[in-house]
Amino acid sequence: MFILNKIEITLAVMSRRSIFLLAAAVVMLYFSIILFMLNPLHGSRGGYYGGGGYMSNFAYRHEPPVNWCSELRWRSPPSPDVVALVSYPGSGNTWLRYLLQQATGILTGSIYMDYGLRVHGFPAENVTDGSVLVVKTHAVPTESDKFKSAILLIRNPRDAILADFHRLHRGHIGTAPKSAFKKKSHENKKSDWATYVSTQLTAWETLHEMWLTRFSGPLHIVFYEVLVRDTRNSLQGILDFLNFNVTEADMNCAMANKEGIYRRKKKHQDFEPFTADMYKALDQVRNKVLNMVMNYKKKHHEPMTVG
Ligand SMILES: *[C@@H]1O[C@H](CO)[C@@H](O)[C@H](O)[C@H]1NC(C)=O
Ligand SMILES: *[C@@H]1O[C@H](CO)[C@@H](O)[C@H](O)[C@H]1NC(C)=O
Repeated sequence: MFILNKIEITLAVMSRRSIFLLAAAVVMLYFSIILFMLNPLHGSRGGYYGGGGYMSNFAYRHEPPVNWCSELRWRSPPSPDVVALVSYPGSGNTWLRYLLQQATGILTGSIYMDYGLRVHGFPAENVTDGSVLVVKTHAVPTESDKFKSAILLIRNPRDAILADFHRLHRGHIGTAPKSAFKKKSHENKKSDWATYVSTQLTAWETLHEMWLTRFSGPLHIVFYEVLVRDTRNSLQGILDFLNFNVTEADMNCAMANKEGIYRRKKKHQDFEPFTADMYKALDQVRNKVLNMVMNYKKKHHEPMTVG
């Protein structure tokens, strides 16, 4: 009798506990779904799929809407050729898309679906056909690509890697806390940041090498630093490559609005995240890629201006 009772009580306690756990799990699942849906960055964290732009996490904050020079529209008729806008993440891809949309009024697409970007000025996220002016990608070229030509946007790896590290930690315009550069996963001698720099540097090199050597279509090379310094001429060069005429008024409007609405605030200027060894590696890889650019231009009889 006593033993049976005890078993019964144990069973009752167990099932009450499991019902409680089940209820707790359901509630947590419910809240994570809500958080997931509310978080405009859920496509961005931890991967390339959120894109390298810097406007993404503003979708649900009280930011002014983007004022476009003219109402954005699809390319009509659609172009038979799809143009890739290639860059390593953190290299100004979103900014260039923004400038192109300002100057032309034509939507730019992406092989990714960044929900934050989609509701904030880039409604053609996940559109990869000729109805958009260019299609953003951070991927290496493959046989199955439908890209007929490509714009390759190159930013120096130091700034690109740092910008993308900030994005991973704080969203598209935030900055990572200093502690993020010190953190070590246990057993590792290197900091996670040092590991990150070396893997990303390899990814940076591979991306550029593949497009410079494996892509057979026309390639237009744009240096981010030149785009910043001489935005008008650099943008005009891209429009020429795209064979897309804009009026002087359109170009003037794009230039008047060239800052966009957000820019990652420069922080940590008192703080140097890169070590001498990292600089050595960065310089080595950067020079290697700049050489590939020179060779590409030599082969295609283009003028030899670099960076
Ligand atoms: C992206 O577009 C494809 C085809 O156009 C569609 O099947 C897919 O569901 C879209 N992805 C997202 C995340 O909306
Ligand atoms: C662009 O404009 C030039 C002259 O201003 C014209 O010759 C050319 O055909 C135009 N190109 C396109 C694609 O409209």
